[in-house]
Amino acid sequence: MSSKDTVAEIGLIGLGTMGGNLALNIAENGFRIAVFNRTSEKTDQFMAKAGDLADRLVPTKTLEDFVASLQPPRAVILMVPAGEAVDAQIAALRPLLGDEDLIIDAGNANYHDTNRRAEEAAEKGPRFMGIGVSGGEEGARFGPSIMGGGARDAWNRVGHILEAISAKYEDVPCAAYLGEAGAGHLVKTVHNGIEYADMQMIAEVYGVMRDGFGMTANEIGDVFETWNGGILQSYLIEISSKVAKTADPETGKPMLDIILDRAGQKGTGRWTAIEALMLGTPASAIEAAVAVRNMSARLDDRKAGEAAFGPAPQSMERAAGSINALEAALVAGKIVCYAQGFGLILEAAKQYGWAMPLPEIAKIWRNGCIIRSAMLNDMSSALADDASRNLMLAPFFRDKLKETEASLRRMVAEAALHGLPVPALSAALSYFDIMRTGRSTANMLQGQRDFFGAHGFERTDRDGGGFHGPWAMG
Ligand code: 6PG
Repeated sequence: MSSKDTVAEIGLIGLGTMGGNLALNIAENGFRIAVFNRTSEKTDQFMAKAGDLADRLVPTKTLEDFVASLQPPRAVILMVPAGEAVDAQIAALRPLLGDEDLIIDAGNANYHDTNRRAEEAAEKGPRFMGIGVSGGEEGARFGPSIMGGGARDAWNRVGHILEAISAKYEDVPCAAYLGEAGAGHLVKTVHNGIEYADMQMIAEVYGVMRDGFGMTANEIGDVFETWNGGILQSYLIEISSKVAKTADPETGKPMLDIILDRAGQKGTGRWTAIEALMLGTPASAIEAAVAVRNMSARLDDRKAGEAAFGPAPQSMERAAGSINALEAALVAGKIVCYAQGFGLILEAAKQYGWAMPLPEIAKIWRNGCIIRSAMLNDMSSALADDASRNLMLAPFFRDKLKETEASLRRMVAEAALHGLPVPALSAALSYFDIMRTGRSTANMLQGQRDFFGAHGFERTDRDGGGFHGPWAMG
């Protein structure tokens, strides 16, 4: 197995849909890659479908053969389910690999696990990196967005392969090194949180068009298609249009009328919300999107609610500019959602001392990943200008918000009056309103805290803190 013609530049373990497609992508880009799967039937099936690329693939049936087929210092990509399977695979590889060999976890890991694994690797070897890979099956096969984390010199060893297999935006690879340890997986997690909010906001305007304006799925699909030619151009708007316009082959009805309104989730959106809360940084649009998935799952409770309270009044007046106003509302919501996502990454970067180049992150999200959109190009320019400023305040986005804010406000208000839930857009509006208010209502919170707990407050008319109100003595 270690004869010259079987020596591979890189290896991959886990030939599920994502792993198999990533291996084919690596092979297609000219790299010789060894593959291994826990069940060797899967390896056989994978090889049988590899076609011309089979020449660059080295199938192996044991972990020992797999390791022996790799050129030292070895690099092994893991594409196994996140969680215990990753730890088990690392434990199985450890005795077979040298300290300078490198394990790259390309799954959707929780970045805290990646931090822990990086520490363990520093103690026990081999080397370890965690990379976020986005783009679903198609991205894995033809070019994902790759968010690199771990030691810089480890990235330097495999970066040329990761850049080669990544999506390109005007020839620029959508793959970059972002920081130590769990930095790549944290960015992938935030990507998914933004993905949740982006999807939820689209679902909310879909709801206004369906239940408020009484539009058909096809008509709604046409609206999304039109929007995809403008500022909202994005993969998620594009596929929403396609989803809306597709008919169920069995019944002929629109697919959207057949799909049950109970959303699944694997957890990465929830991790984003948890992380935002832990880091003390606002991500309310993302949190709302996660909460809605949880509410959507409670189908029986929702039905009982409808029986108890009756359906919400829904029909809304559709005026001439209503669809344009919805588009504007979505633009405003989207800007806020990204401002929150980038704010979260910035906070994590401070906390961990990670590089986290925000303009670079916006750049590698411009293609390949699920949230790819035209707006990300403008975001990368705004962040290059000043990465520490709230994205809402960058001149381009400040102007866009000035143009669209009124539409968001009217849309949220109208929806509320008609009983149409728009929680992510509403959270975005509240964030906007709070973040443009110099004098908030938190003085009341401070008064309450000082009243019941003598927690102290700062005064508007003096420096320093620890002041108390005259209520302590009753
Ligand atoms: C991606 C996706 C991918 C996956 C999500 C789905 O970037 O390629 O985000 O990672 O499709 O994890 O997440 P939910 O099952 O939680 O919706």
